[in-house]
Amino acid sequence: MNRWRSLTGRMAATLVAITAGSLVLTAPATAAPIPDTAPSVVGGTRAAQGEFPFMVRLSMGCGGALYSPRLVLTAAHCVNRTGTNTSITATLGAVDLQASSRIQVKSNYVYRAPGYNGSGKDWALIRLATPVTSQATLPIATSTTYDSGTFNIAGWGAAREGGAQQRYLLKATVPFVTDASCSASYPGDLVAAEEICAGYASGGTDTCQGDSGGPMFRRDASNAWIQVGIVSWGDGCARPNAPGVYTQVSTFASSIASAAASLGG
Ligand code: ARG
Repeated sequence: MNRWRSLTGRMAATLVAITAGSLVLTAPATAAPIPDTAPSVVGGTRAAQGEFPFMVRLSMGCGGALYSPRLVLTAAHCVNRTGTNTSITATLGAVDLQASSRIQVKSNYVYRAPGYNGSGKDWALIRLATPVTSQATLPIATSTTYDSGTFNIAGWGAAREGGAQQRYLLKATVPFVTDASCSASYPGDLVAAEEICAGYASGGTDTCQGDSGGPMFRRDASNAWIQVGIVSWGDGCARPNAPGVYTQVSTFASSIASAAASLGG
């Protein structure tokens, strides 16, 4: 189970990259549009333009959140290593990835969580070559205050297990799952201090392949969005008793802030 878990963690970015690549290569401008009713995430609905301005799509087939004008917070399993990297394109500012109004910016550096080995510590920062100041950023939770309740998830990933990447941003809400319950679903695999779980016992709503790196977020006491999780892994997507597992942002908040400062904010 442990081996399966870390393997899928390492394989995910590659699989997603292949999926996203083939999407780009095989979808001409004349491709049939995805119907308005198409769910995404799994069990989701379309996000409105501007609803989640901090959402980022990354060209390797992952999600992310705008942490600051120059930095995107994503998952460690979406990137290879710390260092100069000019190969990633971030798309933001549009729920439709093909909208002419979308913003596209190249990366110039990747910072992967120190000690990341496929189990826990699934976070990374991507520095953009040009700051994006037109989109609101998503502050991260710095304590466990908001690590419960109902969470929002969003992404351009698969709308069902094994499904295609999505053109339009999809969203859903999922309830918090306790570490005890999540550990029972994933014996030996959950790193409880570093991961936070969410989903319905009956399944049906979840993040999925290609949503990785994207934020799980909720409202804070001032009704502002705050990031509590980073899409990391799960057993398939939206299966019963198999909640989505997210990097617990509050655990890493000070490390993320220090790394961000070292990258120039
Ligand atoms: N590892 C996946 C990715 O690379 C995300 C999987 C999330 N799975 C889930 N059941 N919540 O996109």
